[in-house]
Amino acid sequence: QPIPKPPAKAYLGLLGHAPDLEPTLPVKSYWKLMDEYSPIYQLDLNMPLPRVFVGSRELVNEMADDSRFVKFTHRLHQEMRAVFGDGLFSAESTSLAWWKAHRLLVPAFGPVGLSKMFEDMQDISAQLIQKWDRYGHETEIECIEDMARLTFDTIGLCAFGYRFNEFYMKEPHPFMQQLWESIVESGKRANRPDLVNLAYYKDEARRQENIVKMRELCRKIIQDRLEHPKPDSKDLLNVMLHGVDKESGETLGVENVIYQIPTLLGGGYETTGSTLCFIYYYLCKNPQTMRRARQEVDDVVGNQVLTYDMLCRLKYLDAVMKEALRMQHPVSLFTRFAIKDTVIGGKYLIKEGQMLSGIWRHFHRDPKVWGEDADEFKPERMLDENFSKMPPNAFKPFGDGLRACIGRGFAEQEILIHIAMALQKFDISLVDPDHELRLKGQMGVKPVDFKIRVKRRADRG
Ligand code: HEM
Repeated sequence: QPIPKPPAKAYLGLLGHAPDLEPTLPVKSYWKLMDEYSPIYQLDLNMPLPRVFVGSRELVNEMADDSRFVKFTHRLHQEMRAVFGDGLFSAESTSLAWWKAHRLLVPAFGPVGLSKMFEDMQDISAQLIQKWDRYGHETEIECIEDMARLTFDTIGLCAFGYRFNEFYMKEPHPFMQQLWESIVESGKRANRPDLVNLAYYKDEARRQENIVKMRELCRKIIQDRLEHPKPDSKDLLNVMLHGVDKESGETLGVENVIYQIPTLLGGGYETTGSTLCFIYYYLCKNPQTMRRARQEVDDVVGNQVLTYDMLCRLKYLDAVMKEALRMQHPVSLFTRFAIKDTVIGGKYLIKEGQMLSGIWRHFHRDPKVWGEDADEFKPERMLDENFSKMPPNAFKPFGDGLRACIGRGFAEQEILIHIAMALQKFDISLVDPDHELRLKGQMGVKPVDFKIRVKRRADRG
């Protein structure tokens, strides 16, 4: 059966569907089309084969079958290589560079490694809590700005022992701006035909300038560690600089470590920052949930300083985090490529090399899995006893398989620490109680004009 293809509207359809996409938030166009054509449609997007979009758990479940679909690095990754080289995100799964980094870093991001990062995560979160406390409750807080500073600083300190000191500077650290600009420009380049890219030579010059500046700082961070070694630390920088991959007997090498620094920052800061904003949004919009989350923090943490052991007892907060990730994912699409001609959904032919993207907004709200109230924020469905009954691949916020997110545990721990510390100290509310989530973003999505207020809890003194 043919996969539905909406008519291309702009330029008489000669340029395919790309000009029809919403410029500030392309995923909004994908959402609209999925509402109309669910569970599958295809678009012509300047690729050899039309790109297929799916929106049901059943079809995403098929995409997770490694014998039929893989995460080939594609055009986007190729453009990103200018920024991230053969760091984890943009290296081919077949390359030794990816395997070495993967084998060395997976254990470093495991439970033992994460437990050692607890204090540094808490340190950065405490800086933000102190800043908010000094604001008082009149101040309107642009949530995404503070969350981006929090997550950027946390990766800097936990992963490379480097303090960007975001909370002590008026403007965000230049590295953040350089990274953001170069990611956005790479995304735009990936969506334009090569010939058209030639016309954007000034933007390309700016991207290259940003890359040079970022590499300078990466070299400085590495140089500093080599000149002032921390032999007792097992932080990620030490693992990357000195760890020996058991299979190849090789280290990563300084050039590759230079690529991993922006890779980890780029993969981790905006995703986690947006997720934190979405959590605040849903908590403020659902006062009962807010009360229950706060009660849990009071029961587990009370007036004490949060400890690592307390984290695993914050079950409801964990469910809040999962439910926010289900309702509003910070990345737009979950993408795979067919490694052979194959049929999905029992009737749609997918050609070898064809690109398939699962739309998070839709498969995470599939009514067959989540019921008729799938559009409602209900953390209870994420509590262990309910979560364990879910069919496979119903909830995939961190991707799947070999190339799934390496920073999952890092992000979850950082989120729990920050939300627990904030609820322990403040009453948190929306500046505009009627605010409805508005988003922007080319690849990731983040909130726009999302403002909160914090007020020291009367019962906390
Ligand atoms: C990959 C989501 C936080 C580093 C990914 C992927 C997703 C994702 C969906 C692609 C997986 C796939 O295609 O199967 C998220 C979300 C986060 C988050 C939702 C926060 C809520 C982080 C953090 C770090 C990180 C904190 C690092 C400190 C990476 C890297 C990759 C990746 C390096 C590429 C892995 C590879 O291809 O080997 N992430 N991520 N992420 N993420 Fe995350």
